[in-house]
Amino acid sequence: MTAATPSFDGPPQLALPFDLDDPRFEPIETARLVLRPLEASDARDVWEYQRLPEVLRYIPWPERSPAEGRAHTEKRAGLRRLESDEDAVFFAMELVGEPRVREPRIVEMEHERADAAGWRVIGDVMLRADRVEHGQLEIGWVVHPDFQGRGLAREGADAIMRLAFDTLRAHRVHALLDARNAASAALCERLGMRREATILEEEYNDGEWQDTAMYGILRREWAGRPAVE
Ligand SMILES: CC(C)(COP(=O)(O)OP(=O)(O)OC[C@H]1O[C@@H](n2cnc3c(N)ncnc32)[C@H](O)[C@@H]1OP(=O)(O)O)[C@@H](O)C(=O)NCCC(=O)NCCS
Repeated sequence: MTAATPSFDGPPQLALPFDLDDPRFEPIETARLVLRPLEASDARDVWEYQRLPEVLRYIPWPERSPAEGRAHTEKRAGLRRLESDEDAVFFAMELVGEPRVREPRIVEMEHERADAAGWRVIGDVMLRADRVEHGQLEIGWVVHPDFQGRGLAREGADAIMRLAFDTLRAHRVHALLDARNAASAALCERLGMRREATILEEEYNDGEWQDTAMYGILRREWAGRPAVE
């Protein structure tokens, strides 16, 4: 007898808790990237993209000082577990072969951390528990502009979508973006997501009302998507 086909329309079956520190979780390797938990020691690499106006343009983040940027990365690196609504975890996108950004105080910090070895973090991917009861997860992403347009966001996001559907058994994954964010919308579509809604004037950022686009994909759609080259 063959194994039962997974039910796509049955009740929610999110496989939580998911803990980044669980020894069974191993970094995810793709053709060009390693996706592993974001660490406080990544703050310098993250600062390289977090500080750029073109990155902040469609993200409601304040302009942070280096110290604030470091505190922000430390905070996100401390989020290690998905279990309840609004829990989030962050994956660093290490580009294999690209050296990390270094400066004296970071070199000092690296000596303190055995896990600081590795390649440059050129972006990060968030996975957030939206409504656990209903099997809903949210995904989000940022890539350093120097490394955009090479399919790296797609590669990293695709790996985390696989984690969301294949390992965590999400029923649906969605992304929320500034409706003007053409790059993020294109990435959603490249991943097989559909624009489900445009929420008018949902946020007030930088002195203006901002529309939010919602993209989503269901588990059965993800399973049936055409192979991506
Ligand atoms: C959104 C973002 C992660 C995309 O990164 P990227 O590395 O350029 O994406 P990829 O190279 O993997 O491209 C994915 C798809 O988007 C398309 N794309 C990328 N930038 C685009 C743009 N400016 N306009 C239209 N399409 C674009 C690519 O052509 C590709 O589609 P294809 O494979 O069919 O050609 C990046 O632009 C970014 O970090 N922006 C700043 C932060 C941000 O706004 N994050 C999103 C918050 S919701």
